[in-house]
Amino acid sequence: MSAQRACSVSELEQDTPLRVELDGIAISIVKDSDDEIHAIGDRCTHGDISLSEGFVEGKTLECWAHGSAFSLETGHPLNLPAYEPVPVFVVEIDGDDVLIDPTVTKEV
Ligand code: FES
Repeated sequence: MSAQRACSVSELEQDTPLRVELDGIAISIVKDSDDEIHAIGDRCTHGDISLSEGFVEGKTLECWAHGSAFSLETGHPLNLPAYEPVPVFVVEIDGDDVLIDPTVTKEV
């Protein structure tokens, strides 16, 4: 498996998550306020909630349901009730394309 096009850089708005599905894996892509692009698992580990419906705050993405904020850099929740991390995917940029291999997660 190799990296595939997930979206374009130009369609990403700062601090507005974009949900994509690659090979059946839901991924939340976030361009943060430093213009860094992150990709983490979209499903909150506390419940079946799409993290893309949540709120970006700095380098975190907060689940709207019960308020767990997940680090965009490590995938770890910074507060309860979630305690399991979400996967963090390697992002490559090729021109205007955001490329992600959904089978490869970062070791963090
Ligand atoms: S479902 Fe996300 S914190 Fe509860």
